[in-house]
Amino acid sequence: MKVFLTGAAGKLGTAAAHALLRAGYEIVGADRRVPKEKPEWLFEIDLLDESAVREQMTGCDVIVHAGNHPNVKAAPTPQIVYRENVAMNVNVFQTAADLGIRRWLFASSIQACSGGRHHHETPPRPSELPYLPMDGRLPPNPGNLYALSKIAGEDMMRFYARQFPDLSAVALRFPMLVDVSPSYLEHIRSAYARGRFPTMLDEGFSYLTLNDAAQLILALLEHSAPGFHTLLPAAQGNKLGLPPADIVRVYYAGVPLRIPAERMESLVDISEITRWCGWTPRDNHIFDVPLTAPIA
Ligand SMILES: NC(=O)c1ccc[n+]([C@@H]2O[C@H](COP(=O)([O-])OP(=O)(O)OC[C@H]3O[C@@H](n4cnc5c(N)ncnc54)[C@H](O)[C@@H]3O)[C@@H](O)[C@H]2O)c1
Repeated sequence: MKVFLTGAAGKLGTAAAHALLRAGYEIVGADRRVPKEKPEWLFEIDLLDESAVREQMTGCDVIVHAGNHPNVKAAPTPQIVYRENVAMNVNVFQTAADLGIRRWLFASSIQACSGGRHHHETPPRPSELPYLPMDGRLPPNPGNLYALSKIAGEDMMRFYARQFPDLSAVALRFPMLVDVSPSYLEHIRSAYARGRFPTMLDEGFSYLTLNDAAQLILALLEHSAPGFHTLLPAAQGNKLGLPPADIVRVYYAGVPLRIPAERMESLVDISEITRWCGWTPRDNHIFDVPLTAPIA
């Protein structure tokens, strides 16, 4: 099976490419920035160029679309992030629709539903989450133009899934994707301890390792189901390294709980994903060490 993998030179794209190749998939990787010494499956393509996308995607069976500006500050202005993400998404999805490709995975973002409130605002504003634990069914709640571009991507998938009943279109609302190097983990940990890591309050302090994200992509390729689906995958654990009940008490008072906080293993419920494709994250609780500055 041949996979058209966008953003293939990026963090997630690289992890996904390695996992796909190891599993025996053929890849056509597309990225506008490719290293000089590049693997033979990686091509320099600007996803804003419709005809280049068509040329490279022809002959592929599946798309894994991870090529976007990955946050609202990733381009000189938020307008560019929005405009270019939406343009890339429509080029990729319309081309896939035209070519009869009926299995799509899209790297959306938890920011599609996590609002605009930071966890360290003074004075704090209450959470807008409609329920906890979170899951892939949360309604859209964008807090910036990057998040809005992801919702636009999801809307496109919903639109095409209605047109093509055999289309399997899955939007993966990834939380912060992390690598597991000790220096990186320490950086995140100390930033949180100072209350200075720019995460949205309504992300539930969630994260996922790049390797687990890549494994999920593999699992979903093997268990596609028709229709449009939004999934919220996350490690079982959180960036504060604290029991969910303690976090609920401090940050999410007043949010309706689907199960008692003491029984929550995580603030994100991934059981639907596990039932669907068998995936569970391997790297859990990687931030579970005492913080230097405990929360109140
Ligand atoms: N990193 C995270 O924490 C995170 C969290 C949630 C969702 N995501 C999503 O996952 C995807 C991958 O993120 P990442 O962290 O690997 O980011 P990344 O920046 O490492 O990778 C994105 C890649 O897309 C490429 N790209 C951007 N514009 C392009 C264009 N016009 N044509 C071709 N290629 C283009 C970039 O060159 C880059 O290599 C993105 O869609 C991002 O929104 C990332």
